Amino acid sequence: MCSKLWYFVIFLFINTNIVTKADALGKNNGFIQRELDLDRSDTPKNILVGSVIGGGSHLNPMLEVCKILVDRGYKVKLAAPGNFTATSPLYHSIPQFIIEEPSDTYASPELRKIFFDKYDFKSLANEQMTFNERYLEYFNKYFQAYKETKADLFFCDYDGNDACFDLAWKLKKPAVGFASNTEFFTAPPPFRSDPMVGCRVNMENESFYNRFICAIIQPLRLDWHFRKNLNYLNARRAEVNVSKHYDIRGRIVNNLFLVDSFFGFEVPSAWPPIHQEIGPILPDIYPDLSSELDLFLSDHPRTMYIALGSYVYTTPENYAILLQSALELINNNILDGVIWATVRFNESELPSSFTLSTGDVIPTSKLLNNLYPHIYVTKYAPQFAILSHENTKVFISHGGVSSSHESMYSATPMLILPIAFDQPGNAEKLVLSGMALELSKLDLKIDDIISKVIKLMNEKSFKMNAERMQVLLKFNSKRKYRGADLIEIVMNLAKRDGNYLDVFGVAIIIGLALISSLLYSFYKIIMFTFKKLSLRNRNSQEGSSKPKNE
Ligand SMILES: *[C@@H]1O[C@H](CO)[C@@H](O)[C@H](O)[C@H]1NC(C)=O
Ligand SMILES: *[C@@H]1O[C@H](CO)[C@@H](O)[C@H](O)[C@H]1NC(C)=O
Ligand SMILES: *[C@@H]1O[C@H](CO)[C@@H](O)[C@H](O)[C@H]1NC(C)=O
Ligand SMILES: *[C@@H]1O[C@H](CO)[C@@H](O)[C@H](O)[C@H]1NC(C)=O
Repeated sequence: MCSKLWYFVIFLFINTNIVTKADALGKNNGFIQRELDLDRSDTPKNILVGSVIGGGSHLNPMLEVCKILVDRGYKVKLAAPGNFTATSPLYHSIPQFIIEEPSDTYASPELRKIFFDKYDFKSLANEQMTFNERYLEYFNKYFQAYKETKADLFFCDYDGNDACFDLAWKLKKPAVGFASNTEFFTAPPPFRSDPMVGCRVNMENESFYNRFICAIIQPLRLDWHFRKNLNYLNARRAEVNVSKHYDIRGRIVNNLFLVDSFFGFEVPSAWPPIHQEIGPILPDIYPDLSSELDLFLSDHPRTMYIALGSYVYTTPENYAILLQSALELINNNILDGVIWATVRFNESELPSSFTLSTGDVIPTSKLLNNLYPHIYVTKYAPQFAILSHENTKVFISHGGVSSSHESMYSATPMLILPIAFDQPGNAEKLVLSGMALELSKLDLKIDDIISKVIKLMNEKSFKMNAERMQVLLKFNSKRKYRGADLIEIVMNLAKRDGNYLDVFGVAIIIGLALISSLLYSFYKIIMFTFKKLSLRNRNSQEGSSKPKNE
């Protein structure tokens, strides 16, 4: 009792003592303000952004990060195909070097083949080869852009963009990579794979046979299949005095990579710290509904939205199946409205009329001219505004990254018809999240679409899981500022980089020495046992044969 009182007195004494000292100092009760702003006067300023693919879905997220850097006083220039930034409402403040005419090749036979046939890693290799064939052209264009901008840092889109990473490496400038998922620029842990190699994004529940094939055999086949591309690329590198590099993923192991994705969507696994998730990256503003669309949506409380993104398309047969299913769903009063953004599809390839299961015949021209009251057809649509409308209940999508992000952000359950590239993998991830179901472009069936739409509309779990994803999206979509911070960090540290080649070199040598000595002892033991056994065998043979001979 007494000692407690004593402590209390001491406590009081100490506290009053602190307060009196602080008062004596007279500064904010003894606290000083932590300086929040960075002194940027000494930081290099010029950033060159490089992409050989261009187009909205690739460039928008990168430029979203760049806009933040521009606000912080950096000078950003883009090198990409087309006249993208000048014509874009959101990014026209970023000047651009046009490295190529806008690619109008979306109807080319090669792309049609990719979009219409089975998509696998061989298609990916062919696609990569078309970029490798233009390596020198890109390298020189980037070098020209570098000389004009005096870039201090390269911000390189990952896809098909070896020239960007190689040039930065050759000039000894830092390069920051950008990708929308981790599948291709990092060796995935064995339980992760991709439909592109005939496997699943998450292998945890697969049979031993499938896990063996997907973890061991397919990666070897992939390396083998890409070796031709690699040899070709190395020959091109030699022409511009860039030394050879034997990693099919490119010259990227020491680069900071920003990934437009997030935990909860990606199959969970540990990544090295130079791979930083900053996604989903979304702009702050979106085009609004036209008054016509606004009216349509208000009048149709159970609307389905169909759009396959700005780049891919499927066969006329598949479009007819989609449209036929939409009409049946409306006829059965499951839906009362459908909005279809046709984008890359040429509507004149549709059959001239649709016959419903009830026998009704609807001429296609009536649909395309928006004379059928339940269907609204348009070339382009303000997608995010449509998805954000409470009357949009289901989204039939190709599963591209930005469409998926927008659907999750607006908590809209999805029916996914993946066409190519990362879309089959995204589709599986969305199905695993419980907010989506998937269709097959090679086996599209009206009954299947109808039953899946009914499931998505009636089973509460899809909407609930979509709302769960929405929470993740809302929190994580603030991370584009983190992306800009990380690029600034690299700009500040570029002057002081070192490397650990010496340390890792020695570690590898020690590892190799250990492995070879182990192998040697193993060999010795086997030889020893073998000798012993054969000696004993001979002895016992001699022993057993002797009596017979006698
Ligand atoms: C790019 O677009 C802008 C705005 O539409 C136009 O003024 C400019 O001439 C275009 N540049 C090229 C090279 O097409
Ligand atoms: C694997 O199975 C478990 C148990 O049924 C389930 O909880 C989990 O979601 C499954 N994982 C995948 C990737 O399907
Ligand atoms: C590559 O190096 C060689 C020899 O050093 C030189 O002659 C040649 O001009 C260089 N080529 C380029 C494109 O830099
Ligand atoms: C669409 O297809 C029709 C007929 O096949 C053709 O005449 C027309 O030029 C095509 N339109 C476009 C924009 O490709």
